[in-house]
Amino acid sequence: MVATTETDIVVIGAGAAGLMCAATAAYQGHRVLLLDHANKAGKKILMSGGGRCNFTNLNTTPEHFVSANPHFCKSALKRYTPWHFVELVERHGIEHVEKAPGQLFCADSSKEILGVLLTECEWAGAEIALNTAIKRVAKSADGFTLTTSTGVVSCQKLVVACGGLSIPTMGATGFGYQLAEQFGLSVLPTRAGLVPFTLQPDDKAWLSELSGISTEVVARTASAEFAEPMLITHRGLSGPAMLQVSSFWMPGQAVTVDWLPQLEDPVAELVSERQQHPNRSLERWLRQYFSQRLASAITEQFGWQGNLQQFSNERLGAVAATLKGWDFKPSGTEGYRTAEVTLGGVDTDAISSKNFEVKSVPGLHFIGEVLDVTGQLGGFNFQWAWASGWCTGMML
Ligand code: FDA
Repeated sequence: MVATTETDIVVIGAGAAGLMCAATAAYQGHRVLLLDHANKAGKKILMSGGGRCNFTNLNTTPEHFVSANPHFCKSALKRYTPWHFVELVERHGIEHVEKAPGQLFCADSSKEILGVLLTECEWAGAEIALNTAIKRVAKSADGFTLTTSTGVVSCQKLVVACGGLSIPTMGATGFGYQLAEQFGLSVLPTRAGLVPFTLQPDDKAWLSELSGISTEVVARTASAEFAEPMLITHRGLSGPAMLQVSSFWMPGQAVTVDWLPQLEDPVAELVSERQQHPNRSLERWLRQYFSQRLASAITEQFGWQGNLQQFSNERLGAVAATLKGWDFKPSGTEGYRTAEVTLGGVDTDAISSKNFEVKSVPGLHFIGEVLDVTGQLGGFNFQWAWASGWCTGMML
C-alpha cells in the first residue's frame, strides 16, 4: 500500500465475512482494499472445526441465531443459502463431509476454505493489506478517510468486518464496536458464547478427577435445551452440550443436566433391576450407561453405595430425579480466551437487513460477528459470515 491510497471500498477485517464481502464486491467491478492488523488473513477459519472448518450447516434457519432482533438475519440467510457456499466450495474442488446431520466440514483441512476465499479475492482483484493497524476513521464529504500504520486511505464506502472479542490471541479486538459508537450506534452488551463452563469448588472437586470423559446428556437453561455430548475437563464442563447452553446462560443461573436422556422413566428400570438383582449395587446398574470411572464417581458423589435391596422406592425416586435433573451453578465461563463467539454487539436496529448499511450513515456497513447476531454451534456462524458478506458485497 502506498502512503496515500484512494479506493472505492475499504473492508476492515480479513476474516470470514470480510473476505467474502471483498471478493463479491470486487467481482462487481469495484476497487476493494481489505485491511487487517493481523499478519495472516482468516486465522479463525484455520483454527475452526478442529482444523477442518465446519463451514456451513445445510439446515440453517433464522431460529439457529441469537439476536435482540430475531428477524434481522432472515433476509440475508434467504438470499445466500448454505447451498450457495457448497457450490463455491465444490467449484474449487474441495472435498467435504457431513459429520452430523447438516454439518459440513472439509474432508482434509480448513486451509482449503481460506484458500477458496483468498483465491476468489485474487481472481476478483480485491487487494489485501495485512499488518495494517487502523488508527483513525473519519467521515469525509464523499466517504471515509482512514489513517493507518502504513498510510492514509480514502474510500467511498467502508465495511466493518472486525468480528467479536473471542480469542484475542487470534487478533480479536473491540475495534468494530468502537467504530459503531463513534458513528452513534448502540452496542448491545457483549459476552462470551459457545464457551466451556467453570465450576464452583464443590463440583470441581469431584468432576475434575474425571477429566476427558464424555457422555451424551440433555443440558438445559431457562430458555433452551440441547441433546449433545458433554465433556468433563480439568477446568469444568465443555463439549457441544455445554457450549450450546452457554450462549443462553446468564451469570447466576443454574444449568440442568439430564445424565440419562435415553431413559424416560429410570424409576421403573431401577425398580425392576432391584426385583431381579437385589444384591447388585446401584453402581453396577449405572455402568450400563456410563464408563466405570464415571459410574463410580457418581455413586460416591451422591452417596449411593450399597445393594439395590437397601434402596426404598422413595430413594430410587430420588436417584432417578438426580440423574434426570442434576442442577449445577457454574462459577462462570472460560470467557473470551476460549469462546468460539461473542454474543451481543452492534445493535441491528440501526442497520439495513438488505445491504447492512447503517441507516443514519450512508456508505458505512457492518457485517459478520461484530453484529448482534450469533449462531449456535454447527456451522451457523460461518454461514452468517458468508451470507452477510455476500449480500453486502453485491449491493455496494
Ligand atoms: P473474524 O473473527 O473471522 O474476522 C475478524 C477479522 O478482523 C480478523 O481477521 C481480525 O484480525 C480483524 N480485526 C479485528 N480487529 C481489527 C482491527 N482493530 N484492525 C484491523 N483488523 C482487525 N463457526 C462455524 O460456523 N463453524 C466452526 O467450525 C467454527 N469453529 C470455531 C472455532 C473456534 C476456535 C473459534 C474461535 C470460532 C469458531 N467459529 C466457527 C466461529 C467463527 O470463526 C466466527 O463466527 C467467524 O469467524 C466470524 O467471522 P467474522 O469475519 O465476522 O470475524
